[in-house]
Amino acid sequence: MNKWHVNIMTLFPEMFPGSLGMSLAGKALERGDWSYDIYNPRNYAQDKHKSVDDTPYGGGAGMVLRADILEKSFLDIKNPGKKIYMSPRGKVLNQKMVQEFIKEENITILCGRYEGVDQRFLDAHEFEEISIGDYVLSGGEPAALIVMDSCIRLLDGVMGNEETAKEESHSNGLLEYPHYTRPALWVDANGIKREVPNILREGHHKKIEEWRIHQAEKLTKERRIDLWDKYKQK
Ligand code: ADE
Repeated sequence: MNKWHVNIMTLFPEMFPGSLGMSLAGKALERGDWSYDIYNPRNYAQDKHKSVDDTPYGGGAGMVLRADILEKSFLDIKNPGKKIYMSPRGKVLNQKMVQEFIKEENITILCGRYEGVDQRFLDAHEFEEISIGDYVLSGGEPAALIVMDSCIRLLDGVMGNEETAKEESHSNGLLEYPHYTRPALWVDANGIKREVPNILREGHHKKIEEWRIHQAEKLTKERRIDLWDKYKQK
């Protein structure tokens, strides 16, 4: 049984556990399958305005989080483990990275705000920059929640049905095949009859398996040529 701990460096502690306090992740948190601590750099601000940022050297828009203040907060963390900085400049998250993150007992996630953080802090403590996609959020907190969600659901015992995690999109390099449930015949609001594919109702397991692989390959080829090319090379 793996226990997984996340240290979160954030100026907005109220954003956690957020959605991760609910549903499967919330139950897992209550059971102690995973845990988190918040480290707020604001606690180390030195002036009466409690400021943690300053204007960028070289000019330009926005403010930059100070290395000295971030470091003081960081040094409070007993076991930082793997260190991640959420940033649109980072390597884009994928399922393989998620699987690596849960092998670590501890990870530390730094959530940025404003224009960024002083590069010297990232260099000094070897933070790896991770992005959740090619778009810009107003801060790293929602991105941290996404990284944590994708990890927590893979922890032992969290999902219940381990097979679900093995078959889902991305775990085998393909997008997942389509799903259907009752009723077998459904008439939609436009009066169009929509039936569940016969093959899924005939109970021939080998044929169902083949159909699902074919569907997964077809979807991947149509929607994600990048994944398809990688899959073919395997
Ligand atoms: N912070 C702002 N935008 C982000 C992104 N796309 N991924 C991770 N962290 C971010």
